[in-house]
Amino acid sequence: MILSHLLDVERYMLYINSPPITDDVEKKFFRLISQRCKHVPIAYILKTTYFWGYQFMIEPGVFIPRPETETIIVAATELIANPEAEINILDMCTGCGVLAVVLAKMFPESLIFATDISQKAVNLARKNVEFYNLQDRVFVYRANIINKKINKKFYLIVSNPPYLTREEICNVPEEVKKEPLRALNGGRDGMQVIRRILEIAPELLEKEGFLILEISPWQVKFFHNLEKYGLVLVRVFKDITGNERVVVLKPV
Ligand SMILES: C[S@@+](CC[C@H](N)C(=O)[O-])C[C@H]1O[C@@H](n2cnc3c(N)ncnc32)[C@H](O)[C@@H]1O
Repeated sequence: MILSHLLDVERYMLYINSPPITDDVEKKFFRLISQRCKHVPIAYILKTTYFWGYQFMIEPGVFIPRPETETIIVAATELIANPEAEINILDMCTGCGVLAVVLAKMFPESLIFATDISQKAVNLARKNVEFYNLQDRVFVYRANIINKKINKKFYLIVSNPPYLTREEICNVPEEVKKEPLRALNGGRDGMQVIRRILEIAPELLEKEGFLILEISPWQVKFFHNLEKYGLVLVRVFKDITGNERVVVLKPV
């Protein structure tokens, strides 16, 4: 991957063509290999990642999107039958903006608002939005959960918030330790940011709208009784490895 990146050729070309390698490329190659040996994730080294088949810019300091988060896209497409729906969508904790961009592509008549507490994430999400020329429909703001100035109701709210417990964070692989702690840290029970989202979601959601949240499989139990939030669990989606990963909630 590193060599094909440096030579700007498809990976299979390395096997069938053995392209010449200059001294300069060789030096860069070993510099990047040594970063990888220090557990720097490949996405940070190549500054590129993929989500739902789309390419995204990524950089250190911003969470690297994971395949299991694509389950949120699966859930959204099952819940919204009409791709031409003129709906408002909110993506809280957007990171580099993958959910906002892919949902904008899937629902071309929608308006998308995306927020993140990290200025670095907001800057990068805006770059990804511009890369796909979606800046007329996708608006990214820095905010702690939500910016009060976004005075709107949403048919769909999605979020992949930080949801690991303190204990889980101590045991993550070295690569994950290179990612921003704020993107992972959900407090003592992993539910700190999720609870804040549950508190504000009912006033932001349209009556018929949905909140789609990514969670840890063991957290599903917290979603069976949401009466105090004025929400109800309607579906649980499994990710590609068969773990219950995404919950769909509705206002009562
Ligand atoms: C697990 S990452 C998910 C990023 C992106 N949605 C994705 O799936 O790739 C969580 C994101 O939440 C952001 N975040 C953490 N606490 C937040 C808060 N209180 N308000 C808004 N964003 C927050 C982090 O900066 C991080 O970008």
